[in-house]
Formats: sequence, structure tokens, C-alpha cells
Amino acid sequence: MAVDPLIELRDVNKYYGKLHVLQNINLTVGRGEVVVVIGPSGSGKSTLCRTINRLETIESGHIIIDGRPLPEEGKGLAQLRAEVGMVFQSFNLFAHKTVLANVSLAPLKVRKRKKDECDARSRELLERVGLASQADKFPAQLSGGQQQRVAIARALAMDPKALLFDEPTSALDPEMINEVLEVMQQLARDGMTMVVVTHEMGFARSAANRVVFMADGRIVEDRTPEAFFTAPESERAKDFLSKILKH
Ligand SMILES: Nc1ncnc2c1ncn2[C@@H]1O[C@H](COP(=O)(O)OP(=O)(O)OP(=O)(O)O)[C@@H](O)[C@H]1O
Ligand SMILES: [Mg+2]
Repeated sequence: MAVDPLIELRDVNKYYGKLHVLQNINLTVGRGEVVVVIGPSGSGKSTLCRTINRLETIESGHIIIDGRPLPEEGKGLAQLRAEVGMVFQSFNLFAHKTVLANVSLAPLKVRKRKKDECDARSRELLERVGLASQADKFPAQLSGGQQQRVAIARALAMDPKALLFDEPTSALDPEMINEVLEVMQQLARDGMTMVVVTHEMGFARSAANRVVFMADGRIVEDRTPEAFFTAPESERAKDFLSKILKH
């Protein structure tokens, strides 16, 4: 497959004090590609996501988004960060703002678009995540699955080039997991470039172009889901899979 790289990490190293949390990470995510990141707790998955849009600094290496190196700071950084949306395990919606206002907030403030335009676009996005009828409610009036779908709509409101998801369904009750995964599946089909940290192996199998397996701050395997799940190469991955697939 000819890869048109949208996100590139080259020889990225990050430390927390003495802990070498990301060790020589090389990762390319092509435009329209879905990469699922899995691995044991503490292996560096969240840190990887956070470095991609520079919520965390790195000690060495390069992060390139759509052909442009991520700047260290300043206006360029804010702009590039807006190009890569992030969805967290905890939805982080503003409790005192309506669903609609939550989705419109960033384009209003950061992009300085007109309120009517923002709200119209937000309603379209809420429709896309199946929440058109909930626009005027407050987050506390929604289920966890609905709140997470609002968080996805909010990330989309900035028209990002890529979306990062860090365990987006881990805080949800089981019956709400699928409604969120379905929205993510649809985004994948629509061609959104996505990096998804998740333990949902069904999603990895059906939506991912590649599975990246991390252990101890390193990328140990980077392969198609088919290859990874049927024939993991490393002992770490075999061990990890045998544990999670038992549940
Ligand atoms: N702000 C921080 N300061 C110091 N150490 C940190 C910090 N954040 C994470 N770490 C450490 O870095 C390592 C990687 O953490 P990270 O959160 O990236 O792992 P993870 O793979 O996302 O784990 P989990 O599956 O539990 O979410 C862990 O050992 C963690 O304790
Ligand atoms: Mg994590």
C-alpha cells in the first residue's frame, strides 16, 4: 500500500525523570488509516497519544503532522494541536454548558467563527453521532455513552485531520460501549485518520488497518490485525493476548 503519511514519529524518546517512557518510537500513520494501539498497563500508550499533539514534550526525535514538524510552542503549536483532535476516557464536557454549546465552544473561541455557523455545524455533527435530539440538554442529563459521543462531536467540530482516542470506552457501562464504537467505525469508514488506544479487540479486528503493540515504552509489533491476532511474534504479545482473550 502506498502510504501518504499524516502522522510521523521518528526516533521519539521521552523520559519521566529516570523512566524512559517512550523508547525510540518510529510510527507512521497514513492518511485515512486506523491504527489501534494496545499493550499492558504502563507501557506508554497514553503518553504516546499525548506526545502526538504535544500535550507532553519529548526529549529527542521528530513528530511530523501532515508534512510539518510539530513546533515546540507558540501559535503554531495551538494550530497544529487543533488539527489533531483527542478523545479521552473521561469525557471532560463542561457541565454548565449545553451539549450544543460544548460542541460549538472550540470553533467559536479558537477559530473565531460566527455563532450561528458554529451552532449549525454542531447540530450536523450531533446528528452524525446520533444525538440531534439532545442538543439542548446538559451533560449530566445524558448517559455515559451519549456524553462520549458528544465528546467525539466536539473533537470533530475543529475539522481535525486526525483523531486520537485514549481508551474511549473504558469508563462506560458495557451496554454503552457499542454505540460509541459504532460512531468510531463510521468515522473510520468515512476516511478519518485515527489512532485508537483500546482493549476492544473486536474493534481492532474490524476497523484497524494496523495494530501496534507496545510494551515497556517500545513498539514491539506493528502489523495487520489479522497477522497480529492469529500469529503474534513476540512473547510479550502472546502473553498479553492470552490474558485478555481469556476474559
Ligand atoms: N506525568 C507523569 N509523571 C511521571 N510518570 C508518569 C506520568 N505519566 C505516566 N507516567 C508513567 O509512565 C508510564 C507510562 O504511562 P502511560 O500512562 O503512558 O501508560 P499506558 O500504557 O497508557 O497505561 P494504562 O493502560 O494503564 O492506561 C507508566 O509507568 C506511568 O506510571
Ligand atoms: Mg493509558
